[in-house]
Amino acid sequence: MPRVEVRLLKNVDEYRQCEIVQTHVWGGPVATRELLTATQKYGGAVIGTLVDGKVVGFIYAFLAQYHGNLAHWSHLMAVEAAYRDQGFGFRMKLVHRQVALDRGIKSICWTFDPLQSRNARLNISRLGGLAEEYVPDCYGRFPSLLEKGLPSDRWVVNWKIATARVEKRLRGEAPSFDPALPRVNETRLTAQGFPQNRAIRLNLKDRRLLVEIPAQTDTMRSQAMPLASRWRLEVRRIFQHYLVRGYRVEDFFPPQPATAGRCYYLLQRTSKEQVKRQNAKGKGQR
Ligand SMILES: CC(C)(COP(=O)(O)OP(=O)(O)OC[C@H]1O[C@@H](n2cnc3c(N)ncnc32)[C@H](O)[C@@H]1OP(=O)(O)O)[C@@H](O)C(=O)NCCC(=O)NCCS
Repeated sequence: MPRVEVRLLKNVDEYRQCEIVQTHVWGGPVATRELLTATQKYGGAVIGTLVDGKVVGFIYAFLAQYHGNLAHWSHLMAVEAAYRDQGFGFRMKLVHRQVALDRGIKSICWTFDPLQSRNARLNISRLGGLAEEYVPDCYGRFPSLLEKGLPSDRWVVNWKIATARVEKRLRGEAPSFDPALPRVNETRLTAQGFPQNRAIRLNLKDRRLLVEIPAQTDTMRSQAMPLASRWRLEVRRIFQHYLVRGYRVEDFFPPQPATAGRCYYLLQRTSKEQVKRQNAKGKGQR
């Protein structure tokens, strides 16, 4: 059995290995070993997954302020492709949560691509993160291996690590999928097997709505870029439309028999009072 450790990283050699992971995942290092060293020493956190002593995944988070409160801003997280879907991302988030709680920090924030279903599964449904803002082209267009030059739309996630909601999610308690809910987008599969929107409804008023996204965005970006590009703009239009009407992301359902192998965000309309309070605060905090 390989020896697995998930912990704060300790030295420059481990930070150098994080550069290698970044090169494999994005095509080049974004956070250098110098930056990781300084971050670890002065208030941020660099957490890694080591398999038999080799770094195969990491989190890089710096100290930040979000809506006036002290937070960790988790700018990067990656797991080498061969080690994904083994719970390492989840385990690193749990270690990060404990590190932050021990330091009196109650929010860990980050951004993620709304079309990356694996990230949505981890961030929204397993961890209980709140997708609070939709930012179109957040970092500008960049030619990383994952983004391939598309506009870099992002959810801003606030993971309120000390809340009962998060504890429930960490225990695995979550709503089940209801196939009868109204769907904002109806899709059909292309000849290549990718979902494609054939109808988008922006006039729904029901309290809960489903929004489908593709389950294999990376493959779509490699094999059907025009379709991937359409998805970027269509999903942006859907989320921007419903967010200003008081809807919030309540959950995410990954591919499973109940969803017939498809992926859905669950949007839920908040009450008029909540919307007023959120607007008064300036941002959609819950
Ligand atoms: C995001 C990332 C760090 C997750 O790491 P990981 O170790 O695979 O995460 P986990 O195994 O803990 O969780 C992945 C979950 O997604 C699920 N999943 C796998 N394929 C999926 C898919 N196509 N759609 C939805 N969910 C999927 C897994 O089953 C797992 O859920 P489960 O625990 O309920 O089974 C990794 O995918 C990665 O490095 N991606 C590229 C870089 C990136 O996007 N970083 C984040 C933004 S900076």
